[in-house]
Amino acid sequence: MNKRKILVTSALPYANGSIHLGHLVEYIQTDIWVRFQKMRGHEIYYVCADDTHGTPIMLRAEKEGITPEALIARVHDEHYDDFTGFNIHFDNYYSTHSDETRHYSEDIYGKLKTAGLIKARGIEQLYDPQKNMFLPDRYVKGECPKCSAKDQYGDSCEVCGAAYAPTELKNPYSAVSGAKPIKKSSEHYFFSLSDERCVDFLRRWTRAGHLQTEAANKMHEWLGDAGENKLSDWDISRDAPYFGFEIPDAPGKYFYVWLDAPIGYMGSFKHLCTRENIDFDAYWHKETETELYHFIGKDILYFHALFWPAMLEHSGYRTPTQIFAHGFLTVNGEKMSKSRGTFITAHSYLKQGLNPEWLRYYYAAKLNGSMEDIDLNLEDFVARVNSDLVGKFINIASRCAGFITKRFDGKLVEGEGYQAMQQLVDERFASWRPDAIEKAFEERDFSLAVRQIMKFADEANEIIHEMAPWEIAKNTDKNADLQLACSLGIQLFYLLARYLKPILPETIRQVEGFLNCGRLTWPIFQADEPVSQLLLPEGHAINAYQHLLTRIDSKQIDALVEANKQTLKAEQAGSAKSIATDQSAAIAPIAETISIDDFGKIDLRVAKIINAEHVEGADKLLKLTLDIGSEQRTVFAGIKSAYEPEQLKGRMTVMVANLAPRKMKFGLSEGMVLAAGNGGKELYILNPDDGAQPGMKVK
Ligand code: 2FM
Ligand code: ZN
Repeated sequence: MNKRKILVTSALPYANGSIHLGHLVEYIQTDIWVRFQKMRGHEIYYVCADDTHGTPIMLRAEKEGITPEALIARVHDEHYDDFTGFNIHFDNYYSTHSDETRHYSEDIYGKLKTAGLIKARGIEQLYDPQKNMFLPDRYVKGECPKCSAKDQYGDSCEVCGAAYAPTELKNPYSAVSGAKPIKKSSEHYFFSLSDERCVDFLRRWTRAGHLQTEAANKMHEWLGDAGENKLSDWDISRDAPYFGFEIPDAPGKYFYVWLDAPIGYMGSFKHLCTRENIDFDAYWHKETETELYHFIGKDILYFHALFWPAMLEHSGYRTPTQIFAHGFLTVNGEKMSKSRGTFITAHSYLKQGLNPEWLRYYYAAKLNGSMEDIDLNLEDFVARVNSDLVGKFINIASRCAGFITKRFDGKLVEGEGYQAMQQLVDERFASWRPDAIEKAFEERDFSLAVRQIMKFADEANEIIHEMAPWEIAKNTDKNADLQLACSLGIQLFYLLARYLKPILPETIRQVEGFLNCGRLTWPIFQADEPVSQLLLPEGHAINAYQHLLTRIDSKQIDALVEANKQTLKAEQAGSAKSIATDQSAAIAPIAETISIDDFGKIDLRVAKIINAEHVEGADKLLKLTLDIGSEQRTVFAGIKSAYEPEQLKGRMTVMVANLAPRKMKFGLSEGMVLAAGNGGKELYILNPDDGAQPGMKVK
């Protein structure tokens, strides 16, 4: 066999949030693929790390009253425990805040600079004079320059969807201190992505089989046609205060987190190389024959398919063999939602005592190597795991093993019986294609692999059912038949276990103990060979069967969803307290004084929300139908991030009834509902007291 040398990564999770079931789609997908390749005997390393730099991490540490180093150390342990809990095995799980990542960041930056691809240029940005810091776009808020909606982020408006620069916001304020930002210029460093060398390289690279077709097309949109240069230079520096690596020749300037994040892949691998004496250069040298794969979510393709290969290419390193992008996770067909309890953390899943192998199996059954989103339908999850894993797989062993242990001292059939069994297997499974399972795993089409494995399991169950060892056992003269039937069941179970091992590592580890067969490897199968050559040898002795996997009780899932709702309630109580006591929470400054006549111009009415629905293609808007006594109004409200339509139907609220109707992309908006809060999850629509009726004027 040609032994491949492969390095694999998953995206580095930020060090300021918990791992949830959405993240796990990627780590489970990668882990299955890596385990499959390891079983085949290839030399493969799987590395990852926490993505530790940037303003959010710096501010969060400050808010918790600890250093960023203490925060990232704590989160590193939490993440590591979560991954381990889901049987995700990294050869190294590191941190981007490391000497190795610093070294390669400086090295790559220096080489890009020598190549003339780093340019310095002054830019004007908003600056918080109270906190003495430049404000990233998400930390500036104000009124939308297009529709005047209040409290919008510095990059886009959640109400009208407009995109703009933070400097365009009207009445801006700092989301960190509430202070009015000032414009201040500072020198930034840019990676010249628009340089012909980068553009030419990327045009070739993105079309050379390194990306899924869908991703390559997306890149092409971003790159534009030949002659057209749509790429802008990339701002890779940030000013102090910033948690990150200071740029060597630029005191007070730091590498932007996205510059050192992918370099963290190298950093983590280097750390592993030092520990295990692996040749780092063999994997990263420009002319290397080794393979490099990055598993990522489709939202970060831009960084991995443009910036990252361009950085590597022009600093003299190898570029990725392939980028494998996957879609997002929905739960019960919708975005994960904290209020519905479907924003489920890895920790809560494990804490509720749910078996991680169930989720691994379910994700495998859904993943097909494309960028399509996958849905975790909780009812289907219970049904599928119970029927496939327990009903079809585990049951084979539990039905056959007892007889082998009690009646044959643990020994599987040998001699003529073994030959008869082999013949039976070869006849019944003549058209079986284990090589197709292997191909499906290689191509990350795990759903196809699972379908084939389960088809095999169905056929195995059919034979066992036909032979009915439990019937044979009633007749003591038929001992040989009983041993053959049960041995056949165990042998088929053994085969299934080998194919399921990348997906169910812990269960199969126990199976290895039960079957007394050592570490299961990937079956090497030639299409013209009989299947029986894959079986355990004749007379092989197994150990007594011990319980391997339980069924899911749907009550466990109800409890999990409930627990995640409770966590949300606790978080909300906590954050309400911290907003009340924390001086740094954002309070917008009070606006200019107006007269009572000015106020009188606004016709505020009590409105009943008679319908609320999602708007196709709108990320932030819900379409509301409001009853204001005399008429009904349609209003598009930017509150999708905080409410589900079902929560709103039938509720009373307050609207501005005489606001000029506004034509939006999705239809005409005839007014505005009032809501308080900072946006995102923190949006609270107004509720009049009980008794208020639709149409009543608010004065
Ligand atoms: O999107 C994210 O969660 C980033 N922390 C991923 C970084 S991947 C790599 F580039 F480091
Ligand atoms: Zn707007």
